[in-house]
Amino acid sequence: MKIVIDKEACIGDAICESLCPDVFQMGDDGKAEVIDEQSDAPCVQDAIDACPTEAISIEE
Ligand code: F3S
Repeated sequence: MKIVIDKEACIGDAICESLCPDVFQMGDDGKAEVIDEQSDAPCVQDAIDACPTEAISIEE
């Protein structure tokens, strides 16, 4: 599995980074980047649920 950000959908809300900073980090483009694509940390699901544009997903 792999955690991915839809850069088109991301509006730079940054709640993903605040909920799960070991996995998500804001990039220079003002959008989220995944810094640990394989993470199974519980906060990943929290971030998926909290993202206002549903930009975060998990690819199998
Ligand atoms: Fe973007 Fe959603 Fe995070 S809008 S910055 S992926 S909370």
